[in-house]
Amino acid sequence: MPSSLSPELESRFIDLFGEAPQYLVRAPGRVNLIGEHTDYNDGYVFPCAIERSIWMAASPRSDGQVRAYALNFQKSSTFSLETIEKAQNPDESWSDYLRAIAAILQREGYPLIGLNIVTYGTVPIASGLSSSASMLVAGALLFASAAGVEIDLKRLALLAQRAEIEFVGVNVGIMDQFISALGRRDHALFIDTRTLDYEAVPLPSEGVQIVIADTNKKRGLVDSEYNTRRAECEQAVAILKSNLPSITALRDVTIAEFERYADTLPEVVRKRAKHVITENTRVLESVNALKSGDITRFGELMNASHESLKDDYAVSCAELDALAGASRSIEGVYGARMTGAGFGGCTVSLVADSAVEAFKAQVPALYRAATGLDTTIYTTKAEQGAERLR
Ligand code: GLA
Repeated sequence: MPSSLSPELESRFIDLFGEAPQYLVRAPGRVNLIGEHTDYNDGYVFPCAIERSIWMAASPRSDGQVRAYALNFQKSSTFSLETIEKAQNPDESWSDYLRAIAAILQREGYPLIGLNIVTYGTVPIASGLSSSASMLVAGALLFASAAGVEIDLKRLALLAQRAEIEFVGVNVGIMDQFISALGRRDHALFIDTRTLDYEAVPLPSEGVQIVIADTNKKRGLVDSEYNTRRAECEQAVAILKSNLPSITALRDVTIAEFERYADTLPEVVRKRAKHVITENTRVLESVNALKSGDITRFGELMNASHESLKDDYAVSCAELDALAGASRSIEGVYGARMTGAGFGGCTVSLVADSAVEAFKAQVPALYRAATGLDTTIYTTKAEQGAERLR
């Protein structure tokens, strides 16, 4: 957290509500290193939290109202905990995340209290770095803290996922909420999304950096295409089941089994399944590569992941391909791939320390020449997951 942020948030809170906040929470955005579109197939993912977060400060109210103010938009929104609905006014749609998580917590029986809230975030919005998951996780932590209840972080992540599915209407997996809640500083989390078991794997402390580059292409199609991909995966399972009766998700299908029965699947469904099944094996291999210090292999697997997302899963776009290509053309880049749902958003690259300056100097011009767009580059270390600061 930039050390100046806390006083700034606090003084704005006092300006707005005439008192100091009693609660302060933070939840980070995330970048997924590898394992894309595997989480809703019971598969493996390997994300880390990033050094960009949402902070929320609050004080209690006795009237069951939530009065929230977003410093980023300089907009306020008020709702009652008694009947929570989506915001009518588009200017207040940012508050839907607070509304959604409050509604889910109440439905689960948590006795919430009204709050004055100020939010401030440094996670870029609609860039595929999970600003929405960090809003939901921070909101859950805030409402729970104020209500005096302790919610286990895995459960909190599941509740945040439900809020996203039920209110936002995208049938997302658990990755984003999980890593925002449970991320570990200087580690990536190898998560089994079926069991929710996870292992924190240390990232190299020197020699290589995580570099995120934003296509700055606004993601239009992503919600409907996301739900379509998910349905195609379910269709693949339904068909493969006739030969592999014990499977319940694509996670259960080995590459050898897939090859044996691939012909039973319609072409598009076959390609989707191929991506998911091969991506799961890439995650397993990349975790081993990282543990044995083989960054070169890790980078190759990232590149292969991108190609699979582009050719088989069809969730990349010209801008992501151009940015990944420009990144890979820099000497010292181990690997580069799209990260998150796709159709825009960001790439993630693993870059040798000595190549980071060249990356920042050369990738923007290469990307601009290919697309006419400007990229925004962020370097990040793996950050700690959500925390209550006050
Ligand atoms: C979005 C979803 C995640 C995951 C990724 C793709 O970020 O919220 O659950 O499915 O897309 O890997």
